[in-house]
Amino acid sequence: MSELIRRLQGEHDNFSKLLALLHAEIETLDRGENGNFRLMTDIMDYMAVYPDVAHHPLEDRIFTRLAQLDPGSSDLVDEIIAEHERLRHMGKVFSDLVRGVVGGGITSVDKLSTLGHEYVALTRAHSAREQSDIFPRLITVLSDEDWTELTAAAAASEDPLFGGIVDRSYEEILAQIERRR
Ligand SMILES: [Fe+2]
Ligand SMILES: [Fe+2]
Repeated sequence: MSELIRRLQGEHDNFSKLLALLHAEIETLDRGENGNFRLMTDIMDYMAVYPDVAHHPLEDRIFTRLAQLDPGSSDLVDEIIAEHERLRHMGKVFSDLVRGVVGGGITSVDKLSTLGHEYVALTRAHSAREQSDIFPRLITVLSDEDWTELTAAAAASEDPLFGGIVDRSYEEILAQIERRR
């Protein structure tokens, strides 16, 4: 298996830990309790600076290559790539809502909860579909040369949370992940 697929898969595993934290916070709000809005903001910040900027663009390049080599995959690839944009947009709207609460603004809890659940569900379904429908096709269709080229073009983007050096602003997230183990 290509190193890049392993990287994408590992990143999905990381994202799912964050989504579990986010989901738990939204459920806290659903019970009428006070959620940790600072933690939610940190998670959404991370989603905007790593998945949206590194993970999805890398997938776009790899999946586009798949569609070129295997036209039967192109509808699926188009859908998945369009979903990246949808996730980015949805994430931004949700993030702004959460940030509004942290800033002292008034936001409807129902609205926040509905959008939060939608965001978590779509992100989970998206990764699951990539793993079940796209990654296996990559393994059969792409050649070693394709992977060498894609790897050379892949920027070594530093993950500010799960990478070697943790950005201090994400320490709360790491502490929460530790706590859930
Ligand atoms: Fe994706
Ligand atoms: Fe992905």
